Amino acid sequence: MTNNLKLKIIFKHIKLILVVCFLMSALTIDINAKNFQPIGTVNPSKYIPAQKQIAESKNGMVTTQHFLATKVGEKILNQGGNAYDAAIAVGFTLAVVLPRAGNIGGGGFMVMHDSVTNQNYSIDYREMAPAKSFTKMYLNEDDSFNDKKLSTFGYLASGVPGTVAGFWEVHKKFGSLDWELLLEDAIYYAENGFEITPYMGDMLSKYKEKLSYFEPTNKIFMKHNPNFIGSKLVQKDLANTLKLIAAKGKDGFYEGEVAQKIAHEMQKNGGLITENDLKNYTPKWRKPLISDYRDNKIITMGPPSSGGVHIIQMLNILENYDLKQIGHNTTDYINLLAEVMKYAYADRSKHLGDPDFFDVPILEITNKKYAKSIKNKIKIGESTPSSKIMPGLFEDNESFETTHFSVADKYGNVVSSTYTLNSTFGSGVTIKGTGILMNNEMDDFSAAPGIPNQFGLLGAKANEIQPFKRPLSSMSPTIVMRDNQLFFTTGSPGGSRIITAVLQSILNIIDFDMNLEEANKSKRIHHQWQPDILQIEFSLNDATREKLRGLNYNVEVIDPATCIQTIMYKNNMYYGYGDFRRPDAFASGDIYD
Ligand code: DON
Repeated sequence: MTNNLKLKIIFKHIKLILVVCFLMSALTIDINAKNFQPIGTVNPSKYIPAQKQIAESKNGMVTTQHFLATKVGEKILNQGGNAYDAAIAVGFTLAVVLPRAGNIGGGGFMVMHDSVTNQNYSIDYREMAPAKSFTKMYLNEDDSFNDKKLSTFGYLASGVPGTVAGFWEVHKKFGSLDWELLLEDAIYYAENGFEITPYMGDMLSKYKEKLSYFEPTNKIFMKHNPNFIGSKLVQKDLANTLKLIAAKGKDGFYEGEVAQKIAHEMQKNGGLITENDLKNYTPKWRKPLISDYRDNKIITMGPPSSGGVHIIQMLNILENYDLKQIGHNTTDYINLLAEVMKYAYADRSKHLGDPDFFDVPILEITNKKYAKSIKNKIKIGESTPSSKIMPGLFEDNESFETTHFSVADKYGNVVSSTYTLNSTFGSGVTIKGTGILMNNEMDDFSAAPGIPNQFGLLGAKANEIQPFKRPLSSMSPTIVMRDNQLFFTTGSPGGSRIITAVLQSILNIIDFDMNLEEANKSKRIHHQWQPDILQIEFSLNDATREKLRGLNYNVEVIDPATCIQTIMYKNNMYYGYGDFRRPDAFASGDIYD
């Protein structure tokens, strides 16, 4: 070919070449070319001691389970962003720096108070069962349970992720900054890496077996094995996926290259999620549940989370008692709470599920008269065995690793969100070429009546698997208002223990007047009806334990699994506290005018 001919061909295609170059540049978010200022490498020790103190600020507050995510939220607020902007940036950053729970391959819930409209909102961005799922998918042919961990480990365990669509929806409704800006820090930490803290290093060691089973996961997370602590975790594929999301919004995840890769890997490895499932995923605005408790307004998440329903149900029962007089964490108090919890979780097992598929008797369960009828069955000084407690009968009804973040801004907007991959590091599967760690949320469905899920929770028809249905959750992001302004907002990870942890943080603040540190440090108890075990965090003193045993409680001392992230507003100041149970959790008050 002569040079002349070559030139002619190039000239003929010049338009095409220019279009391709333009498209490529649109897809590449060049962090350094903009005004982007990374927070950079943060020495964890600079923050970890600080989390033991209550953070204070006049202009807003961020609390998350990782100090880098908290600093990103704070930065967005300082750039003039609102609480929604900061929450989205925090969510994307956690997907990078807290990979065991933060995610784009999972889902969650967000409860919001909007200062402009003075309204409350909640969005369900929970995972959805794929079209090809079916009720007995984890059972053998003879209907016995196929206990091969299929609902918790590997490709078959994942529901269609909802996180990116949820964040996109909140951004469209309430966001004030550009979408791309909200992903810059997450992209930065994925691309350049960040230092593995001692706590995260321990988690990577502990989950070595799970993280090394699937090659794409192994390649990312086991790179520094066994010297995790202090090494840099770099996630280049995840950075590229986040860049696509930054450039194209939710379509960067649910359509095109990323969606194709997810569907391809699923099909190749026995998973069910297809391109259509991804394309059809929609988050849902749902009416938040609103109730009152001793002159406070409780705003919380409704089904498919069970959290809000049962927090309100338990508060309705407990408002009939003078808890302060009974005394915090006394034998009587624990006895009362445990009995109340048993009734709530018994109802959960039968009546709670995705409201789009099952008629959930929300009004009945949260009815104050129903609460009184339960109160009348409880006698302090006695314990009723779980086998004698049955879910309530309502006429109309026939039919470990999560993370919470809270943000409040100077305008009065409040965002409370809990999202998850379900187990620690989800299903263990990273979709090849995308860096996306997938959830194992299908385990939150009831595989069959009488078969407990990984948290020991039982379920029935209300929570059976059906295509496009969302699994029942315990996640309980909650906002408490007093005199028409924020009092506090809270939420936690911890599987089935989330509901009781959030309940106790509400009681600690409202009934016992505790400040955030006291409320956080006090021991939490948990009873979920079945198994009939009273779980107690750390060791209660021997006398109390023995007295509880005397009441026929099967007392078990458990490791802490919850991690409350609370923001309080009092006398024109915001207060925040990162739960000491997770060393990297951090509340930030460095927010300026
Ligand atoms: O939605 C739920 O209730 C569970 N998937 C939450 C899992 C969880 O909190 C594990 N964390 N520690």
